[in-house]
Amino acid sequence: MPENRTNALGPLSSSRTGATGLPRIEVVDLGKSYGPVTALTGVTLSVAAGSVLAVLGHNGAGKTTLVDILATRTRPSTGSATVCGFDVTRDGHQVRRRIALTGQFASIDETLTARGNLVLVARLMGAPAKAARARADELIELFGLVEAADRVSMTFSGGMRRRLDLAACLVGSPKVLFLDEPTTGLDPVSRTGLWTTVRLLAREGTTVVLTTQYLEEADRLADDLVVLAAGAVVASGTPTELKAKVGARTAAVTFPDAWSARWALEEFTRLGLKPVLDPDAYVVTAAIPAAGQIVPLVRALDQYGVTVVDLTVTEPTLDEVYLALHRAAWDTATWEAP
Ligand SMILES: Nc1ncnc2c1ncn2[C@@H]1O[C@H](COP(=O)(O)OP(=O)(O)OP(=O)(O)O)[C@@H](O)[C@H]1O
Ligand SMILES: [Mg+2]
Repeated sequence: MPENRTNALGPLSSSRTGATGLPRIEVVDLGKSYGPVTALTGVTLSVAAGSVLAVLGHNGAGKTTLVDILATRTRPSTGSATVCGFDVTRDGHQVRRRIALTGQFASIDETLTARGNLVLVARLMGAPAKAARARADELIELFGLVEAADRVSMTFSGGMRRRLDLAACLVGSPKVLFLDEPTTGLDPVSRTGLWTTVRLLAREGTTVVLTTQYLEEADRLADDLVVLAAGAVVASGTPTELKAKVGARTAAVTFPDAWSARWALEEFTRLGLKPVLDPDAYVVTAAIPAAGQIVPLVRALDQYGVTVVDLTVTEPTLDEVYLALHRAAWDTATWEAP
């Protein structure tokens, strides 16, 4: 059953669970072709209320196309998608009343001030003048635009434009917020500020779908990730799940001499690992596929009284996951080529 809309402007955030308890977004076997170009194919995913989904992928992977379909800016060629329980093709009007979108390029009226832009959006949404001004004030404060509120936005820096663009999106308290590369071109301070805002919105119930090229951003912000390659989902899950699937933890043990290092090489092999020895630094490195394998390794070192100078366990990074996935997708594409 579709979710009801509360009122014209409402509180800044929406309720944590949808009225129906169903996912806020449900996508089944979605596809989109532009003539001979397949922009999306067989995409299936769902996003819960109050969660953040990050869509990753190379240039041309289909990220913007996916967001555009969900935000009803373009129609799918195959499959279906619902947002807040409404079908994006049949009930586009209902979907648009519940969402907001910031595109890859900020869209604000350059001739108006920051306040003027926000009041205009609120008025266009049907808010009385007083309520529109109050909402503008609230958002100006939230996005750190107090100093610049009454300056013409033409004079704004790229980061200030982005913040104003996002503020304009929140005028109508959307249940779902789509952010297409929201932090591209932002300085580190503006970027972390935007991350804080996104987390705050999600915590208070807004569902956020963002596309990004920054793996750190996906790692820090997203509850779930979807990686697209050539229009298809090549991996999905939580950041932790994806790291566990692709990259193994690595243990690096430094020994005081060559003898101990050689002994460890044999011992690690006996434990089923595939260790590599750096003979000059006396360091033995091994991928640890399961967390539980670190304990027998430490126990063996202890049991034989081998001195250890240093032991570090490194978690895989999302960068490793991403690169591995893209290598795999590239290999498949190469295989399938005639
Ligand atoms: N209007 C269009 N007409 C024709 N082809 C299009 C159109 N829009 C997108 N495409 C193609 O669809 C594919 C996916 O494009 P899309 O913009 O979704 O990628 P993206 O992942 O957002 O890329 P980027 O990281 O560069 O923003 C690309 O091959 C692109 O050229
Ligand atoms: Mg794009």
